[in-house]
Amino acid sequence: MNATFDVTGLKLETERLVLRPWKEEDLKDFFEYASVPDVGERAGWHHHENMEKSKEILTHFMEEKKTFALELKSSHKVIGSLGVELYSLEDKLTEFENLKGREIGYVLSRDYWGQGLMPEAVNAVINYLFHTLHYDFLLCGHYDKNAQSARVQEKCGFKPYRKLVFDTRMGTKESGILRLLLNPNKSFNLEFSHPETLIF
Ligand SMILES: CC(C)(COP(=O)(O)OP(=O)(O)OC[C@H]1O[C@@H](n2cnc3c(N)ncnc32)[C@H](O)[C@@H]1OP(=O)(O)O)[C@@H](O)C(=O)NCCC(=O)NCCS
Repeated sequence: MNATFDVTGLKLETERLVLRPWKEEDLKDFFEYASVPDVGERAGWHHHENMEKSKEILTHFMEEKKTFALELKSSHKVIGSLGVELYSLEDKLTEFENLKGREIGYVLSRDYWGQGLMPEAVNAVINYLFHTLHYDFLLCGHYDKNAQSARVQEKCGFKPYRKLVFDTRMGTKESGILRLLLNPNKSFNLEFSHPETLIF
């Protein structure tokens, strides 16, 4: 089942990043990276055509309280987001019904790709959700063509779990992989004790 999560008042620190709730003042930084073509598209949303669009989404982030802003310590610039999302397949993934977890999703400004920043952020969130909130599992997905995101998930320990067709926010469909990470501090005597098995 989907676990509870509220980003209000949280601050997670890594070597190079601060993960904290979004603020109205982040609008300029958000638009700067979200307006670049082929960044959001890799995560299923169209790049922002104008600042109004960014403002609308930023308002959702602040209202829904499930998305971290990724602030670079060296410049205090916000360079990405990481959401602790409700997973939408609760009715299909019945093996999780007595366990608590969420699905994470993320986007990083193109200017900062390839420096290991997203794995750093993802690991901090995994650590918080498993060790402080005691979640049982986390899901994370990527489209087949998104090798960079696949690498982030591999490096953070997520194992391929299901092959899926995702509905994007652009009204298209993309085939991809849903990956699973189980809390290593818990033991599971369930069907998915071999999470590397792909189920088609
Ligand atoms: C996916 C994403 C978050 C990766 O973040 P990151 O901080 O760059 O991740 P890493 O630095 O660990 O790089 C991951 C892999 O991408 C590849 N890579 C890095 N920079 C690259 C670049 N500029 N061009 C092509 N490949 C690149 C590398 O192979 C790297 O793997 P390696 O560590 O084994 O060499 C980032 O590319 C992004 O925001 N993409 C657009 C949105 C998106 O895809 N979100 C996820 C949706 S599922």
